[in-house]
Amino acid sequence: MINVAVLGYGTVGSGVVEVINRNQNIVSKRAGQDIKVKYVLDLRDFPGDPVEEILVHDYNIIVNDPEVDIVVEVMGGVNPAYSFVKSALEAGKSVATSNKELVAVHGAELLAVAKANNVNFLFEASVGGGIPIIRSIIRSLTADDITEITGILNGTTNYILSKMSDEGSDFESVLKIAQEKGYAERNPEADVEGYDACRKIAILTSLVCGKQVNYEDIYTEGITKITDIDIKYAKAMDCTIKLFGTTKFEGDKIYSMVAPFIIPTNHVLGNVNDVFNGVFMHGNMLGDTMFYGKGAGKLPTASAVVSDVVDEAKHMGRNIMTIWEQDKMELADILDFQCKFFARVKSTKEEVEACFGNVTYLEIPEASDEIAFLTDKISEKDFQEKIKNLDLIYRIRTTL
Ligand code: HSE
Repeated sequence: MINVAVLGYGTVGSGVVEVINRNQNIVSKRAGQDIKVKYVLDLRDFPGDPVEEILVHDYNIIVNDPEVDIVVEVMGGVNPAYSFVKSALEAGKSVATSNKELVAVHGAELLAVAKANNVNFLFEASVGGGIPIIRSIIRSLTADDITEITGILNGTTNYILSKMSDEGSDFESVLKIAQEKGYAERNPEADVEGYDACRKIAILTSLVCGKQVNYEDIYTEGITKITDIDIKYAKAMDCTIKLFGTTKFEGDKIYSMVAPFIIPTNHVLGNVNDVFNGVFMHGNMLGDTMFYGKGAGKLPTASAVVSDVVDEAKHMGRNIMTIWEQDKMELADILDFQCKFFARVKSTKEEVEACFGNVTYLEIPEASDEIAFLTDKISEKDFQEKIKNLDLIYRIRTTL
């Protein structure tokens, strides 16, 4: 029998209890022994909920109980999650978490603590919700030199961009609908400004490098400045706009950023819509590979957390080797990153050509009072230097 304690009875925590209870036979069979939730920790009370009988308010009850084998941390935020997780590992308990803030900041250190205590620290649900991307990087794509990892890693912004595209609506009105439907938080900053995707690409990049990639070093731009006009231009090019978390490994340089990109609709991530996530990777032997699924939500996220519980039950007393050292990995300067840019300006074609030479112009009936164009492939630095001479409305990077 494996006893589990769940820290936090919010959306994901209640999902974890539900997955373990509803799939009791399957989960226990795959774990090789019965899995039981012994405690749920939350500050709140839940009168009438079956969990009431196992609810505790004091973490010490869990960490001091030698019968607890696995702690599930689904509280979110760095504190007190960090101290709870660290003390659980030091007490010889494995930990499964969905907490991307915690993993992005302390993942390498907590893996080292787990190794020192011969237990496991697993975090499949921290990126891509139910998509098994972390286990794939750590345990499956081990024969390849990974040259690119690009993902639609945030369900909220993907929902907003998809609806703007489907309905021709502007950002603010779609955000309001997303909030009413519970897809977007009341304070949506972490999602719409790209901070959530930034932590997720930092985790994936760290795992590919085997070293610490600090999320603060990743250039991050959200979707708040995208307008319905930008989407119309994208459609006119048979393209769509997606918020990418992307890392490219070019020789000894690693370029990582979160930003909206104009991509062809037939791009491998072009049809990842609504709250779905998609992750594209390229390996030098494997070639292209793509992962798709529900990147958020109660049961998909809980499914990934419980898959970690199963893995930990199968590896009691044995650390699963995960290479993520605490040494910092330096990222290359994004100013040297090259791509084609789409730009909208209040300038003349002569002025555009004086700066960028021959460009491809784009026209849509809804924006007859401006000039829109696509540059050749140039560096971020070059683009910034040249565009200074024009009256820029907005620009978006492209994969074209
Ligand atoms: N806010 C996140 C998203 C939740 O929209 O993807 C899952 O990490």
